[in-house]
Amino acid sequence: MKLLMVGLGSMGCYHMKKFTNLGMQIVGGVDPDIEKQNNAKKLYNIPWVGEKIEDFPFKMDAISIAVPDSLHKECYLKAITFNKPLFLEKPLSCNLVDALELEEKIGDNCIINYSKRNVIALFELKEILEQKILGKIKKVNIDYNQDWLTKEAKVEWMENDRFLWRLSPIYSAGGCIADLGSHLLDCLFILFNTVEFKETVFERTFKEELEDGLINYKSTKENKYHLLDYISGKPKIYVDYRANYLIDSNIPCSFSCSFLSKKYSEAMIIRIIGENGEAFIDSSKDRNNVSLKIDEGFEKIKGSAIVPTYTQFKNFVEKKTQHDLPTIHRAVEIQQILQEVLFCQ
Ligand SMILES: NC(=O)c1ccc[n+]([C@@H]2O[C@H](COP(=O)([O-])OP(=O)(O)OC[C@H]3O[C@@H](n4cnc5c(N)ncnc54)[C@H](O)[C@@H]3O)[C@@H](O)[C@H]2O)c1
Repeated sequence: MKLLMVGLGSMGCYHMKKFTNLGMQIVGGVDPDIEKQNNAKKLYNIPWVGEKIEDFPFKMDAISIAVPDSLHKECYLKAITFNKPLFLEKPLSCNLVDALELEEKIGDNCIINYSKRNVIALFELKEILEQKILGKIKKVNIDYNQDWLTKEAKVEWMENDRFLWRLSPIYSAGGCIADLGSHLLDCLFILFNTVEFKETVFERTFKEELEDGLINYKSTKENKYHLLDYISGKPKIYVDYRANYLIDSNIPCSFSCSFLSKKYSEAMIIRIIGENGEAFIDSSKDRNNVSLKIDEGFEKIKGSAIVPTYTQFKNFVEKKTQHDLPTIHRAVEIQQILQEVLFCQ
């Protein structure tokens, strides 16, 4: 099975690793960055690399795309002209109007890579909820924390495009809210029926961190990402964010995402508190088990195997099975909430 990979950065390389492990062949790689082209060519023995999707001269069975958020729309629309299944990155786009256009034009011929749903424990948590083991649900806490923007992380974010575009009002769809928060919304939709944004509790933008001297931005690269600019009509770049949501009409949910975590390098944490006890997952410590506390008892419940998104996509391309989710329709639902959060601040 032949795959064209568009965007040969960190996530593009991860897609290629996953898909080649499943026996797919990378027949082309697209990236305007020659260094990224050379690196990918070497790693995955790619017969053709180029700068534009439309220049790809051969046949493929599917296309996978991992480019910075603001380029999703342009690349996804170019890719549909090949009329092949698409493996697309989250968030779907930078605003709801674009998301709806993509939904109309791409339809069901794609999977959106909300990859936190590959955490097995998430589906065990869903099972626990369906079996009503926790009784009436009283509260939900959901967080996605990363630390790469802190001094302690010792990550060279100022020298790395992969981090720089995430802080750019031109390339990012809204900082940590779109980058990490979109995964959390997908998880909430897996676990519950309805998800409603209520209010922002705390927000911190990249600009505020710079102005308060908490981040020293001294890049040796030119400011091609317009990191320091405020661009009218674009969402701000959030780097630390907390909000209240309402789940299934009456369950309060506290929601947070951050690039400035003091505690976690990379962790998605979900805690669901019910009248009988609580269930908890922390993706940084254990992706397979749910910790369950009922009355005085404590146990770890192992999740059953799931079909990862990459395998689901391969099966979808082979027409062996229809994929369950995530569909573009779910991605639009998520975009609708992101729009409300990002454009109403
Ligand atoms: N699902 C997940 O868990 C997950 C994790 C990380 C990143 N992502 C998503 O993947 C996407 C890429 O993120 P990343 O971390 O790989 O960034 P990255 O900066 O490492 O890679 C992006 C690559 O796209 C290339 N590019 C830019 N314009 C292009 C174009 N027009 N055509 C082809 N390539 C182009 C860049 O040169 C770069 O090599 C983003 O949308 C991000 O949100 C998803």
